[in-house]
Amino acid sequence: MFHPGNAWLDMDGAPIQAHGGGILHHENTYYWFGENKDGPTKIMPNNLHRIDAIGVSCYSSTNLYDWHHHGVVLPAVQDDPDHDLHTSRVIERPKVLYHAPSQRFVMWMHVDNAVYSYARVGVAIAEQPTGPYRYLHSLRPFGYDSRDMTVFQDDDGRAYLIFSMQHNHTLMIGQLSDDYLNTQGASVSQFVGQYREAPAVFKHAGRYYMVTSGCTGWDPNEARWAVADTMLGEWALRGNPCRGPQAELTFGAQSTFVLPLHNSPFPFLFMADRWQPLSLSESRYVWLPLYFKENEMVIPWQEAWQWQPAAQPLLSIG
Ligand code: GAL
Repeated sequence: MFHPGNAWLDMDGAPIQAHGGGILHHENTYYWFGENKDGPTKIMPNNLHRIDAIGVSCYSSTNLYDWHHHGVVLPAVQDDPDHDLHTSRVIERPKVLYHAPSQRFVMWMHVDNAVYSYARVGVAIAEQPTGPYRYLHSLRPFGYDSRDMTVFQDDDGRAYLIFSMQHNHTLMIGQLSDDYLNTQGASVSQFVGQYREAPAVFKHAGRYYMVTSGCTGWDPNEARWAVADTMLGEWALRGNPCRGPQAELTFGAQSTFVLPLHNSPFPFLFMADRWQPLSLSESRYVWLPLYFKENEMVIPWQEAWQWQPAAQPLLSIG
C-alpha cells in the first residue's frame, strides 16, 4: 500500500532520497529519479534553507511499492566550484526521458547557484536507465531564466520542456530538439503573471493536463490544474484538484510528477513532496490517486491506498 506522508524505506531499509522526482516506465520497470537530500540543512543569510548538492538518486521497482536503490547516478562535483553541479549549488527536479532513436536516457534538471540567480536547465545522458549519467551542458531555454521545470514526451516522440521563467512570472512550454539534448523550435508562454511552478504534465484521452503549485518556496500552497488541446496551444487554468483535509495546501505538499497507471482502477498517480524546510532530508512523499470526474480533475486524500499492479505473466511449466 501507499501511505502518503509516512516515512518510506528502500529495500535496504534506508529512507528513500528522491525528492522533486519523476518516474520513467521502461521495459516493465519503474525508475524513480529525484534529488538526494541526505545531508544537513543549512539556513543561508537570506533565510533560504538548503542542502549542499549531493546529486540525483535512482531507484527501480516493478510494483511501485518496493524500491531498489541504484545509488547517486549523477553525483555533484566536489572539486570545481565553477561546475554547474558543484556541491555549493542546486540540482533540482530531475526528470528522465527515453530517446528511442539513440536508445539513450536523457535527464533534464534545474541547475542553479545557492541564491537561485543562475536559473538554468541542465542535461545529462546515459546508456542505461540506472546510469551512470554524463553531464553535457546547461542552457537558458529560448534565452530565458528557468527554475522549476519538467519534461513531457508525447506519443509521437516529440518532447517538451515546461519551465517557470521571468522569475516565475510566466510558465513557458517549448519543444526539445529531435535528439532531446537542447530546446529548439516552437515555444509558448502560459499563465502570464500567475506565478505557477512545480509543473507536472500528462496526457489523457487526447488532451494535455498539468498540475502546478503557487510560488511559496518550501511552504505548501494551493494546487491548480490546467488543460489544453495541444501542448503548444492555449492552456486553460482551472481550479484546485485536491479534495479532503488540507486540500487548500495540497495536503502539505507540492506537485512534482504524474504517472499513468496501467491496469489500475485509478488512471494516474499524483506525486508530490511534503518538504521539511528545517530538515530537508526528512521531506516526505505524498502519492495519491488522480482521476477525472465530470471533466474535473480530482486528487482525493487517502491515508493508505493500493493501485492494482499489472497481472504477472503466468509461468508455463514443463
Ligand atoms: C520551491 C521549488 C522547489 C525549490 C524551493 C527552494 O518554490 O518548487 O523546487 O526550488 O522553492 O526554496
